Amino acid sequence: MTIFHYIDLENKARNALHPHPFSYVQSGSGDEETLQDNVKDFRKWKIRPRFLQDVSERNLSISLFGKTYKTPYFLAPVGNLGIVHPEADLAVARAADRLGIPMIASTVSTNSLEEIAAEVEDKWFQLYCSSDPEITVSFVKRAEQAGYGAIVLTVDMPALGWRATDFTNQYAPFKLGAASGNYFSDPVFRDKLTRFPESDFNAAISEQTKLLFAPSFTWENISLIRRVTKLPILLKGILHPADAEKAIQYGIDGVIVSNHGGRQLDGCLSSIVALPDIVNCVEGRIPVLFDSGIRKGADVVKALALGADGVLLGRPYVYGLAVNGEEGVKSVVENFIKDLDVTMATAGISSVSSLSRDLLIKV
Ligand SMILES: Cc1cc2nc3c(=O)[nH]c(=O)nc-3n(C[C@H](O)[C@H](O)[C@H](O)COP(=O)(O)O)c2cc1C
Repeated sequence: MTIFHYIDLENKARNALHPHPFSYVQSGSGDEETLQDNVKDFRKWKIRPRFLQDVSERNLSISLFGKTYKTPYFLAPVGNLGIVHPEADLAVARAADRLGIPMIASTVSTNSLEEIAAEVEDKWFQLYCSSDPEITVSFVKRAEQAGYGAIVLTVDMPALGWRATDFTNQYAPFKLGAASGNYFSDPVFRDKLTRFPESDFNAAISEQTKLLFAPSFTWENISLIRRVTKLPILLKGILHPADAEKAIQYGIDGVIVSNHGGRQLDGCLSSIVALPDIVNCVEGRIPVLFDSGIRKGADVVKALALGADGVLLGRPYVYGLAVNGEEGVKSVVENFIKDLDVTMATAGISSVSSLSRDLLIKV
C-alpha cells in the first residue's frame, strides 16, 4: 500500500470501513470549523527556501527528556481503535516498534496498556483522569510498571465535544466496549463493580461511562499525579500561553499544543495559529510538541520552524490501520518520514535542529 496524497488515503479508509466508524475518526465537533482550520491555517505560512546548502545528508533526529529519537514523529493517542481494525492498538504498536517511532497509547484503548507495552519499545501513556482519583492513580502506576516513558495528560476533555456526526449516526463506540481495554482490566475499577464485565457487560460500560472524565479536575489536582510518578508529565491540549506558563509553574515537563484534531471545542483556534505565542512564552524551558492538522512533510517543517520540538501524527496513521492494519500504519508513517526528508532537502535544510522561523514567511 503506497498512498501519497492525504485525500487518497482518507478515501481508501472510507472505502475500507463502515460509514459510522469512518465518520467517528474523520469528523470533528460542531460544524467542523476548527477541524478545517487546523489544515487550512498551515497555508498562512510559506517556506522560503535557501539554496546552495549542502543537503546531501539529512538528520531528522530530535532529543527529548535525555533521549534521542530518529525522527520528530510521535503517534498521537487514539482511542477506540478496535472499530478501525481487529488488531487495534497492537497493530499500531507493532508498526511503531518496527519504525522506531514512539507510540502514545490512549487511556481509552481497545487493548490494555500492558498488552500494548509488550509490543513496542518506545511508548508514552496518555491519561484521561477519571472522576475517581483511585482509578487515575491506578492507571499511572500501571503505566509506570509497564515501562511507559512519559505520561501525557490530556486536558482538553472535561466533557466530550459536540460530536454532531456521531449523534446523527447514533454511534457511540465507547458503549461497544472499544474503549474498555484499560478499565475492564483495572483492579481498582473491578473492585468497584458489583458484577464483573464478563458477566454484566452493560453495567460495567455504564459504570465506566460515569467515571471516564473528570470535569472538576483542576491545576491543584495535578500534584496528585506528580506525587505518584517520577515519569515526565506533558499536558496535551494547551492552546493559551498563560496555560503553558502555568504548566511550568506546576512542575510539568512538556506541553503539546493541540485542539484534539478539532474534535473538542469547535470554533477554537487552530493549533498552528496557537503555536508561536506558546513557543515565545515557554522560551525553551520545557519541550513544546505540536499536534492537530499534520497532513504532509511541509506541515512538519512549518511546525518545527515555528519552534515545536516534535509532532504528533493522528488521523493519517489511523487511516493506514483501516486500509491495511500494521502494514498500513507502517507504510503511512514511512511516507511521512520520506516526505519530511525531501521537504527539508528542497528547503535547503540538512538538520531538524537548524530549522528556525527565518525559514518561513507569513502571507
Ligand atoms: C478517532 C480519534 C480518537 C482519538 N482519541 C484520543 C484519545 O483517546 N486521547 C487523546 O488525547 N486524543 C485523542 N484523539 C486526538 C488525537 O490524539 C490528536 O490530537 C488528533 O488526532 C490530531 O488531529 P489530526 O489527526 O487531525 O492531526 C483522537 C483522535 C481521533 C481522530
